[in-house]
Amino acid sequence: RPYLDMDPLCGLMLDGVALNDIADKVGTPCWVLSGDTLRARMHRMRQAMQDAGLNASIYYAVKANDHLAVLSLLREEGFGADIVSGGELARALKAGIPAHHIVFSGVGKSDAELEQAIGLGIGQINVESAEELEIISSITSKLGKQATITLRVNPDVDARTHAKITTGLAANKFGIPYDDAAALYAHAASLPGIRAAGFSTHIGSQILSVAPYRAAYARIADLVRTVRAAGQTVDVVDCGGGLGISYRNEPEGQPEALAGAIRAELGGLDVRLAIEPGRWPVGPSGLLLSTVILNKSRGDEAPFLVLDAAMNDLLRPSMYDAWHGLVPLSPHDATLAAIPTHVVGPVCESGDTFARDRQLPPMQRGARLAILDTGAYGAVMSSTYNSRPLAAEVLVDKGTWHVIRPRQPQDALWQDERVPSHLAGTA
Ligand code: LLP
Repeated sequence: RPYLDMDPLCGLMLDGVALNDIADKVGTPCWVLSGDTLRARMHRMRQAMQDAGLNASIYYAVKANDHLAVLSLLREEGFGADIVSGGELARALKAGIPAHHIVFSGVGKSDAELEQAIGLGIGQINVESAEELEIISSITSKLGKQATITLRVNPDVDARTHAKITTGLAANKFGIPYDDAAALYAHAASLPGIRAAGFSTHIGSQILSVAPYRAAYARIADLVRTVRAAGQTVDVVDCGGGLGISYRNEPEGQPEALAGAIRAELGGLDVRLAIEPGRWPVGPSGLLLSTVILNKSRGDEAPFLVLDAAMNDLLRPSMYDAWHGLVPLSPHDATLAAIPTHVVGPVCESGDTFARDRQLPPMQRGARLAILDTGAYGAVMSSTYNSRPLAAEVLVDKGTWHVIRPRQPQDALWQDERVPSHLAGTA
C-alpha cells in the first residue's frame, strides 16, 4: 500500500504521519483515513472514464463512508453523490453537494424521503419497482414538480461475489425484472411528473472481474435499443458501483478495465453515463488502529490476541467472513518470527473474530496494530453493541492529521434514552 511504510524509529507511517502519534493522542480503537489516497483513487476513476472517451458522471456511493469530511473532500473535487436515505441526502447537502448532483438509489424509499428529494430537485431517482414509480408520480403531482428517473434493471447476472453483497440476480430483492423493464419504461414515459431518462443497474459489490459487468451492460444496451425502437427517448445509463479491491493480495478491480467494459457495451449508444463507486476509492484509503488488551496463551494451541477493537467497530469479518490485513505498528514487533494467532475482539460473541490462524509476531499487551482496508463499510457499519462507544476518527490530509470525530463519550450512549418516571430511581 503506497501510503504506508515502516519507519525504523517511529513505526508504521501513513502519508508521512506516525500512526503511533495518533494513537498516543487519540487512543484506540481509531479509524484513520488518507485524504490523499482517496483523492488519488477518485481521480484515477475519472481519468479512466475520460481516457476511454466516455461522458461519465461519478456519483460517490455515500454508504461506503458517509463522514462529512469525506463528502466535503469529494465535493471539492467536483464529484456527485449516490444516496440511499434521507439521512444520506441531508449529509450530502450539508457537505455542499448540490441536489442536481445527487442520485437517489434504494429498494424502499419512504414517502417522506421521496418528497424531500423531489422538492429539492434531486438529479435522478433510480426506481426499483412498478409500485415505486406510481408513488413518485403521485408525489410529483402533489408537489407540482417533475422527477428525472431511471429504471433500475435487475439483469439477472451473477457478479460472483459474496452472497450477501450480490444484488443483480433475479432472486435478489433489487431492481425491476429484466423482462418487465421495456413495458414499464414506456409506461413511465407516459406518467405525469415523470421524466424517464434511462436505465440503471448495480449487480453487487467487491466485483473483481469485468466479465459480469460486460454481461450486465450488454443486456442494458439491448434494452436501450429495444425501447428506442419503440419510440422512447433514452439519455442516461447509470452503470452502478461494485468494483472490488485487494484485501488479500488478490488483483484489485481496475477502473480502466471497467471503463473498457462500459465503452464496449454502451459506448456507441450516445447516452450520458454514470458510475456509483464506493468501496474502490475509499476502502484502501483507511485503516483501524487497535491495541492488544492481552495475549491469551493456550499451551500448544494458537494464542488469542484480544484487541480493544471489536465487531461493533468493524463488522465485516463477522458478517461476511471478510479477510483484512493486520500490521503491527512497532518496528520491533515487525521483525519477530510470526506464529499462527487468532485475533479477536472483547465482545461476548464467538463471531467477534478478526482472523483465525493468522501469521503474526507474538505481540504483547499494549502493542498496537492496524487493520487494513477498512475505509469502506467500516465506521459506517459500527454500532455501540456491548455499550462500546463509537471509535474516534482521524483524517490525514496534505501532511497533517485532524480528529474528524472524537471518541464518543460514554454518557452519549444513553443521552437519548428516557426512563419513565415510575421507574426512575437513580437513573
Ligand atoms: N450503488 C448501489 C445501488 C449500491 O447498492 C452500492 C452498494 C453501490 C453503488 C456501491 O458499491 P461499491 O462500489 O461500494 O461496491 N457492506 C458490504 C457492501 C455493501 C454494498 C451495498 N451496495 C461490505 O462491507 O462488503
